[in-house]
Amino acid sequence: MDGQDCMETLNANLYDYPRYYDLVFGSDWKAEFDFLKACFPKHATGTVHRIFEPACGTGRLMYRLAKAGFDVSGLDLNAKAVAYCNERLKRHGFPESAFVADMTDFRLKRKADVAFNMINSFRHLRSESAAKSHLMCVANGLRKGGLYVLGLHLTPTGCAASEEESWSASRGNLCVNTRLWTTHRDLTKRSETFSMTFDIYTPTKSFRIEDTISFRTYTAKEMSLLVKNAGHFEIVATYDFSYNAKRPIEIDSRTEDVVYILQKQ
Ligand SMILES: C[S@@+](CC[C@H](N)C(=O)[O-])C[C@H]1O[C@@H](n2cnc3c(N)ncnc32)[C@H](O)[C@@H]1O
Repeated sequence: MDGQDCMETLNANLYDYPRYYDLVFGSDWKAEFDFLKACFPKHATGTVHRIFEPACGTGRLMYRLAKAGFDVSGLDLNAKAVAYCNERLKRHGFPESAFVADMTDFRLKRKADVAFNMINSFRHLRSESAAKSHLMCVANGLRKGGLYVLGLHLTPTGCAASEEESWSASRGNLCVNTRLWTTHRDLTKRSETFSMTFDIYTPTKSFRIEDTISFRTYTAKEMSLLVKNAGHFEIVATYDFSYNAKRPIEIDSRTEDVVYILQKQ
């Protein structure tokens, strides 16, 4: 048995640990940030100033967009993530504009120019009706010609789907090693389950947090159909998770990671 296997393990919701979440998912912010900024003039009509993030979590991109001069807001179901997000916005001198809500049922006071949702949060919505309600709420919160930038992993139909990913991130004395692996996939039920661990190392303690995440699956065809049925949006471009705004992709049967640029009609 190696050191990691005998680590103290906490079975918990990883989203309840915003500090660790933000480190694990926050370290790659630059590519997503540059990509978003490049997409605004390329795909939206008119000027982009007001930006909204449904399922914003810790707001790792929101506060950087605020620093770049955009008016940002976001929502998330997790109160701990929202508190972390607002605390950081406040610390940087911005309004505490994140709020607790369900992304399938919300209304914005003022219409946004762009909404974004970069890394599979949308797949937390487990039914077609929830996904459709979400798209309709986002469409309702956007002005005409505005964008919804939506990133997710598709289920490829022409090759096996990826099963496992692991990566590390550190900030100061804190280091988190992350592993994500598929534990169950039922494509007829459109359901996929993952286990995810954060191995946390600080100078005084090390421990593991383990969680199970359930996602709805989408083939490219299922995603196109959903967008069509929800109405209000046209898919104007697709990219992958290399976030190169100069290199749109054509989705084929092997494509997994996609960023859809949906334009409000
Ligand atoms: C993978 S995290 C992404 C967070 C953030 N968008 C980012 O890019 O770092 C997924 C987030 O979705 C949120 N979430 C899941 N279901 C939700 C729902 N129905 N409404 C709002 N937020 C939800 C979770 O609480 C979590 O913060």
